[in-house]
Amino acid sequence: MTWVIGIPKLIVVLIGTDLLSNVMKKPIVLTSSTSPKWMWPDTSPPPSIGDLTYLKTFSIHNVRNLTGPIPSTIVKLTNLEFFRISQTNISGPVPEVLRTNLLDQSRSHLAPNLTYLYLGHNQLTGIVAGWSFETIDLSRNMLEGDISFLFGKDKNTFEMLLDRNKFEFDMSKLTFGKRLWRLDLNHNKIYGSLPNIMSKNPWQLLNVSYNRLCGKIPKGENMQRFEIYEYFHNKCLCGAPLPPCKSSSII
Ligand SMILES: *[C@@H]1O[C@H](CO)[C@@H](O)[C@H](O)[C@H]1NC(C)=O
Ligand SMILES: *[C@@H]1O[C@H](CO)[C@@H](O)[C@H](O)[C@H]1NC(C)=O
Ligand SMILES: *[C@@H]1O[C@H](CO)[C@@H](O)[C@H](O)[C@H]1NC(C)=O
Ligand SMILES: *[C@@H]1O[C@H](CO)[C@@H](O)[C@H](O)[C@H]1NC(C)=O
Repeated sequence: MTWVIGIPKLIVVLIGTDLLSNVMKKPIVLTSSTSPKWMWPDTSPPPSIGDLTYLKTFSIHNVRNLTGPIPSTIVKLTNLEFFRISQTNISGPVPEVLRTNLLDQSRSHLAPNLTYLYLGHNQLTGIVAGWSFETIDLSRNMLEGDISFLFGKDKNTFEMLLDRNKFEFDMSKLTFGKRLWRLDLNHNKIYGSLPNIMSKNPWQLLNVSYNRLCGKIPKGENMQRFEIYEYFHNKCLCGAPLPPCKSSSII
């Protein structure tokens, strides 16, 4: 089985079951013939993916036997709007083009219209840098480092799924964009306290459990309507819905 790609004007690649299209029960592998053939991929995404320069949507979801790194040739996919590789055994670092995109739009290497980035549930390693997307999903990888730059009141991100990695940063001074409603940080090495301004966002999803946080959970309907499971297993986080703070644990 190969991934030889012979359809240069292809706009969409969907492999595996996908949010966008549950109809697509079978994966599509691009072959050298003029029409796509249906079969499971059994190897790494080929560098020739970079030749599909018309591509707007790229999605591989729930294909466990997909291995190897994300090809750096994706730098050529400047029309991308939606990029997803999730629930695979893809490993190695997040390609530099994805790491450096969009902090400075004018110097952006990658697609200017890329707004959805899903890289959750893989075996990715290393650090990440410089992002601003509608959705950022890096959950369940082995990524590390300080990613506090992803936050900020000027950011437009709606959803950040960063759970189950090795991210390590101080939460105390973070600010949050108004549109951020979904934030999952569980199972990392995040320290400091939860900043009071956090209670302003109408969280639809909030999970900071299994980190190294300390101090009092800010007061407010947006914070207290969650259960202990969204806050538990931290160093010394306290206050509703967790047990009351002892004076020594308040920062
Ligand atoms: C890869 O996994 C799919 C199902 O997840 C399976 O149908 C296919 O045979 C597998 N390929 C190999 C080479 O194991
Ligand atoms: C993919 O990763 C899972 C979990 O790490 C592992 O159990 C499985 O053997 C891997 N599959 C392949 C085809 O490499
Ligand atoms: C990005 O989107 C804008 C507005 O929809 C469009 O005019 C522009 O051509 C797009 N750019 C690319 C590279 O697709
Ligand atoms: C938050 O994360 C913890 C730890 O993984 C989990 O037990 C809990 O169910 C999560 N809460 C929600 C709402 O997903």
